[in-house]
Amino acid sequence: MAAGRLSFRNVTALAPMVRVGTLPMRLLALDYGADVVYCEELIDIKMAQCERMENGVLGTVDFVAPDGRVMFRTCEKEKARVVFQMGTADPDRALTVARLVEKDVAAIDVNMGCPKEYSTKGGMGAALLSDPDKIEAILKKLVTGVSVPVTCKIRILPSVEETVNLVQRIETTGVAAIAVHGRFKEERPRHPVHCDYIQAVAQAVSIPVIANGGSLDLVKAHSDIEKFRKETGASSVMLARAAMWNPSVFRSQGLLPVEKVMEEYIKYAIRYDNHAFNTKYCLCQMLRDKVESPLGKQVQAAQTNAEISTAYGLQRFYQEVQEELQAKRDALQSDIQL
Ligand code: FNR
Repeated sequence: MAAGRLSFRNVTALAPMVRVGTLPMRLLALDYGADVVYCEELIDIKMAQCERMENGVLGTVDFVAPDGRVMFRTCEKEKARVVFQMGTADPDRALTVARLVEKDVAAIDVNMGCPKEYSTKGGMGAALLSDPDKIEAILKKLVTGVSVPVTCKIRILPSVEETVNLVQRIETTGVAAIAVHGRFKEERPRHPVHCDYIQAVAQAVSIPVIANGGSLDLVKAHSDIEKFRKETGASSVMLARAAMWNPSVFRSQGLLPVEKVMEEYIKYAIRYDNHAFNTKYCLCQMLRDKVESPLGKQVQAAQTNAEISTAYGLQRFYQEVQEELQAKRDALQSDIQL
């Protein structure tokens, strides 16, 4: 393996989460100690239409849809640790998208676990689990076609034997790691995770297995991450909900009060001009049962990052960042005119 390639051995990862895994959450998770951060699942058809643009004001690389929407925003700070997750059912399109982003990310992941109809009806997500030929075609194409590591994330199949067979077949494609969400595709997030399946997979392959699915009952604090790793015999652990509720779960010194975490989150959201609706959505997940509190109501009513900042007493920070960004805009403008 070339030096500098992202390793999936013995790491703790922020799981891919639609709407949650945007840039502010990923940077915060890294600050708190996550080793690897997955972006939210992005669909190949939409990504294939995007243009790569360097945003000189924010210092980011943006992948912008024809309607101007930023589908994926990333920056140098996470470049060595961010995994781009895509939803795909088409090897050629998957490769097109992987090539579009490969210079800006540390690895490419294919989602093979999403049980939602919008994924499965297009043959993506968990639908792939019943089409191993397609899985093989997509992964082989990616592994041979891009220079960064390729991984995939699956759910478990009805029996241990079927799950192990699938994973062994996936291993032959040359993927660098496999994340296993220890639930059947019909199971809901509240169902207990099947650690025994993950353990059987971990024993059956030599690539790193990343255990996932422990948030609700097993992983509530940083010290539980190691317990989950041991219980599953996996090399690594990936957290979704525990991190969504309080990303400081990655902190080896222990959880921080969620109020403090929300402040840090908002600072990143302001600094990277995150879409206000996305900022709100993530804050509401962190507020959890406090979402109907006076603060929660203020967040829900807010329409802009400026209003969100006011709810948290961060107006001054907001103003300062706006001034900094304006100064950068002006400097870039005068460079263009020279
Ligand atoms: C998810 N999950 C998910 N999985 C995936 O592969 N791609 C995705 O984009 C998403 N999106 C997503 C959004 C939200 C809000 C949640 C809560 C979950 C599933 C997630 O990565 C993980 O597999 C499960 O949540 C189980 O892990 P935890 O929550 O027990 O740590």
